[in-house]
Amino acid sequence: MTGSESELRTVAAEDLRACMRLFPTGVALLTAGEGDSAMGMTINSVVSVSLSPPTLLVSVHQYARIAGRLVPGAEFSVSFLSADQAGLTRQFASADRPAGEAAVVAMGGARGANGVPFPVGAVGVLECLVDRTVPVGDHNLVIGLVVRAELGLADCSPQVFHCGELTTVHSADRPIDAST
Ligand SMILES: Cc1cc2nc3c(=O)[nH]c(=O)nc-3n(C[C@H](O)[C@H](O)[C@H](O)COP(=O)(O)O)c2cc1C
Repeated sequence: MTGSESELRTVAAEDLRACMRLFPTGVALLTAGEGDSAMGMTINSVVSVSLSPPTLLVSVHQYARIAGRLVPGAEFSVSFLSADQAGLTRQFASADRPAGEAAVVAMGGARGANGVPFPVGAVGVLECLVDRTVPVGDHNLVIGLVVRAELGLADCSPQVFHCGELTTVHSADRPIDAST
C-alpha cells in the first residue's frame, strides 16, 4: 500500500449503507450443494457481467457459510424471488435457517438440472459454475458462468428490496427497449 492509499479517507460504513438502501434491487436466493449438503442464502448483489461468455457475479461475505462452497468449478444457482416469497427472503437471511434436506423442503422440493435446489415459484433461475472468486474487502466476488436459464411465469411480480422493505415494482408507462 502506498502512502497516499493509507491516508485515503473513506465513507463510514453506516453512511454507505444509508445511501445504498435508497437504491432498489431485486432479491435472490443463492443456492449450492445437493441433499444433505444443500444450502441457501438471501442475496441482492447480483450483477449481469457479460453475455459472451454468459457471466454473472454475486458478492458473498467471506464468513457466510455458503462461501466455502463457492470454489472454482462448483455448481450454484441464483433464483430471482417473486413478491410473494418474502418469507423465504427472511428465512434464508437468518442465522438459524434450515440446511440440507430441510432447506430443500423449505424451498418447495425442487432441484435444477445441476441437482442444486431452487425455490419453487421463483421469477427466474440461473444455473452457474464458479469460474473464479475475487476477494474484495470483507466479501468474495463470485464470478459464475451461466449454463442454464429457467424463466418463471411471465405474470409474476419480482420482489424488490428498497429502504429496508420488501416490496415490488409496477409497470412503467412506457416499456424500455433493452436493445437501444
Ligand atoms: C435483502 C437481503 C439481501 C442480502 N444480500 C446479501 C449479499 O448480497 N451478500 C451477502 O453476503 N449477504 C447478503 N445478505 C445477508 C445474508 O443473507 C445473511 O447475513 C446470512 O445470514 C449470512 O449467512 P451466514 O448466516 O451463513 O453468515 C442479504 C440479506 C438480505 C435480507
